[in-house]
Amino acid sequence: MNKILITGVAGFIGFSLARKILRNKNTEIVGIDNLNLYYSKNLKLKRLSILKKNKNFKFLKVDLTDRKKLIKIFESQKFNCVFNLAAQAGVRYSYENPKSYTDSNIIGFINLVEFIKTFKVKKFIFASSSSVYGDQKPFPKLEQSELNPINLYSLSKLSNEQFARSMSKSMNTKFVGLRFFTIYGPWGRPDMLIIKYLIASTKKIKFLLYNKGDHYRDFTYIDDAVNICESLVKMNLKKKYDIFNICSSKPLLITKVLNEVNKYSKSPFVIKKPRDKADVYKTYGDNKKIRIFLGKKISFTNFKFGIKETCKWYFKNYKLF
Ligand SMILES: NC(=O)c1ccc[n+]([C@@H]2O[C@H](COP(=O)([O-])OP(=O)(O)OC[C@H]3O[C@@H](n4cnc5c(N)ncnc54)[C@H](O)[C@@H]3O)[C@@H](O)[C@H]2O)c1
Repeated sequence: MNKILITGVAGFIGFSLARKILRNKNTEIVGIDNLNLYYSKNLKLKRLSILKKNKNFKFLKVDLTDRKKLIKIFESQKFNCVFNLAAQAGVRYSYENPKSYTDSNIIGFINLVEFIKTFKVKKFIFASSSSVYGDQKPFPKLEQSELNPINLYSLSKLSNEQFARSMSKSMNTKFVGLRFFTIYGPWGRPDMLIIKYLIASTKKIKFLLYNKGDHYRDFTYIDDAVNICESLVKMNLKKKYDIFNICSSKPLLITKVLNEVNKYSKSPFVIKKPRDKADVYKTYGDNKKIRIFLGKKISFTNFKFGIKETCKWYFKNYKLF
């Protein structure tokens, strides 16, 4: 039986990945999460209630900064792989609550790596972010492109990458960092564009549109991201440390995305705001490296289909928000 520890399992990507992996009857998942209140706890509890129906899933409410509880978990189970998706996400919030980023993304990450070393876990896959590239041309961004984090969130992710790279030299663990680009889809995060826009529409909340929506994001559908993550969990890795962009490589203008959402939902009351210092103008990654690495044809969902599925899911579940 394979045993995997997924951190941030009540979160968007953690939940989606756990649900996918649990379809394989030979794998047990221990999922941890601190269930913080950054966004709707109801949504996190609903995700967990779905996972808990599977007998191969076990949830523990643990914070990555709680070293005593973490040690107990590693002592009691032998994991083949640890997948770190717990973090304080969001760029704008890093100006409001910087401590949550240093606690979860830096101290929490270091704790995890330390126990992976002590308990000799073979594989450690962790979430980084497209934000490590910052706001500079040229596009698309390759994994070896220059990095230029412009806020504490992206700095915390870059510190994870660099710490992992240096630790990998003295450990037998295989490290893989994933630079996720704007992941969206059913069960998505309410602080991110599409779900936030839908909430504003149904709850009649004003929607703040920055820079007239003149920003590009490399929107990547959750199922595509999770398929890649699952393949990496299953694969035999050779390199001690590797880093990949996880993106569809098709940047979309924000106004184009919102116009597509408007096909399924009434437009909320939009207030135009000047460009926010927290926002980069564009994200656009190159996904060639992961495509070649996986050695099989990976397809990326068309954004019109992805947005339709996201809206359909939202209208079935809007009471969670
Ligand atoms: N969703 C995206 O578009 C995107 C893009 C780039 C990077 N990422 C990264 O991918 C990872 C997953 O993102 P997500 O969208 O699922 O975010 P999410 O906020 O939905 O999930 C993160 C989960 O981690 C938990 N958590 C936070 N701090 C913790 C701690 N100290 N201890 C234990 N649990 C903790 C939260 O309660 C939450 O459930 C994060 O590292 C995020 O930074 C996501």
